[in-house]
Amino acid sequence: MVVLSEEAGVLPRVCPAVKRNDVASAAARRLLEGMPVLSQLTGPMIARKARPLAGACAAPGDKSISHRALIFGALADGASRVSGLLEGEDVLRTAAAMRALGAEIERDGGDWQVRGGPWRAPNQRLYFGNSGTGVRLVMGAVAGAGVAASFDGDKSLRSRPMGRVLEPLRMMGVTATAQDSRLPVSLEAGDGLKAVSCKLAKPSAQVKSAILLAALGAEGVTRVHEPALCRDHTERMLGAFGADLSFEPDEAGGRFISLRGGQRLRAAEVAVPGDPSSAAFLAAAAVITPGADVTIKNVLVNPLRTGFYQTLKDMGADIAFENQRESCGEPIADIRARHSVLHGVDVPAERAPSMIDEYPILSVVAAFATGETKMNGLEELRVKESDRVASTESGLAANGVDVKSGPDWLRVAGDGSPPAGGGRVKVEHDHRIAMSFLVMGLAARSPVEIDDGAMIATSFPAFVETMSAIGADVGAA
Ligand code: S3P
Repeated sequence: MVVLSEEAGVLPRVCPAVKRNDVASAAARRLLEGMPVLSQLTGPMIARKARPLAGACAAPGDKSISHRALIFGALADGASRVSGLLEGEDVLRTAAAMRALGAEIERDGGDWQVRGGPWRAPNQRLYFGNSGTGVRLVMGAVAGAGVAASFDGDKSLRSRPMGRVLEPLRMMGVTATAQDSRLPVSLEAGDGLKAVSCKLAKPSAQVKSAILLAALGAEGVTRVHEPALCRDHTERMLGAFGADLSFEPDEAGGRFISLRGGQRLRAAEVAVPGDPSSAAFLAAAAVITPGADVTIKNVLVNPLRTGFYQTLKDMGADIAFENQRESCGEPIADIRARHSVLHGVDVPAERAPSMIDEYPILSVVAAFATGETKMNGLEELRVKESDRVASTESGLAANGVDVKSGPDWLRVAGDGSPPAGGGRVKVEHDHRIAMSFLVMGLAARSPVEIDDGAMIATSFPAFVETMSAIGADVGAA
């Protein structure tokens, strides 16, 4: 058993161009053809207090499941159909990569059809823009498919650590060329990829998924030990696409995942549910806005993704999962969120994997609560699209919030009344920072401005339209 090493690294970032939802299909076509898409949300934005938020709305398709649906469809025999795909730039980059590797991908009405084929070495570098999930998962899939490929991304992605994926792939026999374990990266799988037994050094679904995707093409049974459970969409989707994998609990709440190499995947239908990480902005907006009562339809409530909602409940928020059901092997529900009187809480480090992308918006909610909210176990936040501990802290401070941070923690204090607001937040080209502070502006005493809304379209292209439809006042500054 090999333990994968820890990686550190804190980084600057930069933004690619993006698009709005109302031009999604045109944008999708351009990206699939490798052409740039110009953002229509670029530039400063502002959010102001509005009437109480009310009504039903939808979050965009889950980003994690959308990437995986395209990758699994491209690997599978036959034609897969994907409904509800997130047509954000990150996912469309993955679609373009799948096409370059040999899959046929078409947008058909509102759905997507993906016909897998034998993968071939692409004749150009695969470019993933801002997307860590896209690049890391496709590295694993390329290794498993036994083709050679080179990978690149924007300035932000170039600064993020890739060693966490390259290290296990090298153990399996892949030749990986990279400087300082950063993009650009070239991979050559060659013949005879070997199964590995490894233990994840951190609860990263991207790393776990890359290993499992490579394992599909390896000789023997790959065994991954995850000491702390993290999102399991890859495992669920492997099953839905006909792969045989097995699970064994360890003694401390983690588990071993075993996957035999050489299995072919079969085409499947995927209905992508709403993204709980995007729905978090809508739920947070409702919880902090007096009089609000909002229902977000059809949201993924996989328990490995719902730590944010649990934390809101712990803070006293009026949150309910209604109409719970299952779709394509994933639990979904309509999430009802109402304005609430909140108190601060200690968020345990063990909860981090189930809410890893939600700390910026939780920090905004915490600024409206009475007392201190201390968030622990945040070291991975330092290597996301921005250093999210730093970008959240400076955004809160710019809006008059009492905030402190340490290497892996953030503490936000409030007195139960709305924070001052009135600040201009540098979003550091991070979509979740941008949306978090626009949400703050909906209920702070003065409007909140962000320096650039361009990155919002990577994960929530219809953010402005969705917010406006429930009564929010958000738009260009
Ligand atoms: C994701 C895993 C998480 C998360 C990211 C999506 C995935 O990253 O932050 O937005 O789809 O596997 P890590 O695996 O680096 O924690």
